[in-house]
Amino acid sequence: MRILIIGGGGFVGQKLARAIAERGSLRGTAVSHLALADIVGPEDIAAAFPVTTHTLDIAERDQVDAIIAQDWDVIYHLAAVVSAQAEADFVAGMRTNFFGTFNILEACRTRVEVPVLVYASSVASFSTDVPQPIQDWTATTPQTSYGTQKAIGELLLSDYTRRGFIDGRGVRLPTVVVRPGKPNAAASSFFSSIIREPLQGDPAMCPVDVEQEVWLASPRVTVENLVRVAEVESEAIGALRNFSLPGMTTTVGAMLKALETVAGENVIGLVDHERDPVIEKIVQGWSSTLLTDKADELGLIRDESFTRIIEEFIANDMRPADSA
Ligand SMILES: NC(=O)c1ccc[n+]([C@@H]2O[C@H](COP(=O)([O-])OP(=O)(O)OC[C@H]3O[C@@H](n4cnc5c(N)ncnc54)[C@H](O)[C@@H]3O)[C@@H](O)[C@H]2O)c1
Repeated sequence: MRILIIGGGGFVGQKLARAIAERGSLRGTAVSHLALADIVGPEDIAAAFPVTTHTLDIAERDQVDAIIAQDWDVIYHLAAVVSAQAEADFVAGMRTNFFGTFNILEACRTRVEVPVLVYASSVASFSTDVPQPIQDWTATTPQTSYGTQKAIGELLLSDYTRRGFIDGRGVRLPTVVVRPGKPNAAASSFFSSIIREPLQGDPAMCPVDVEQEVWLASPRVTVENLVRVAEVESEAIGALRNFSLPGMTTTVGAMLKALETVAGENVIGLVDHERDPVIEKIVQGWSSTLLTDKADELGLIRDESFTRIIEEFIANDMRPADSA
């Protein structure tokens, strides 16, 4: 089993790589090679099988052809210019999210063996402009350039699968919380910051109303579902190749309440509130109520509570106190 993770230097890519290293197998076969490719040289990970790291810009067709020519059984495409950055810099978003995705699909098309391709789409493919709750088959009416680029990738993935060029599985990730490390350029970044920073003793800014709803999932559940999505048989997915990963609907206020329950009043005091109309507009356009029938049928999992998500962050991802 040869696995390539494109975007393997990112948050989800690194966690997925570690999960695969721990399992040692995928689709019932022992992993013989795991490759991590990213525009920023990915961090190596320890595994009982060979792991290689590659610097790759998916917008450069020749680079994509060269790596995909190495015949992978499963390819994860997780590389992206994230939401707020793609909104601020239209060309950068199109370059990676649209042309980069197209390059990956085209490179796969010319292979003799048909790879399983798991594509990380986003809840941002949908919007609040259509009747809620969102179903797997609801029309994608994105309200950001990022969401539009993700939705284009979904359509292409469907057609490349229908044509037999790939065995594609497009999954719409909820906002993944709590993201460790530093804030990133996603408009959703603050959903993690308001939990992560106070727990680590740092101040945080909440740019939206506490009543703001969000559709989220933990890193643990997201990674486990990415593994399961690669494992299911193609026939079990059927013609609808893009579907939502399980998440939970909550509000910023409920997240802060859970933080207070886990960590106490002093920690909550580190969160300040100042609304940012740019972030607010992007986040308000994302649906927070999704039905996940396909994922449920396929046996994907969901988080039990936001309190548990916080506890998992403390146990697995919190910055050590002496490195503040
Ligand atoms: N984390 C979330 O909350 C979330 C929610 C919905 C969808 N997603 C999607 O899931 C995927 C993984 O998300 P993440 O949180 O790990 O993001 P991330 O930003 O941590 O990782 C994405 C990686 O893509 C790489 N990249 C960017 N441009 C590239 C290019 N031209 N060529 C090669 N690599 C490039 C970046 O260097 C980064 O390491 C992304 O596609 C993202 O859009 C994430």
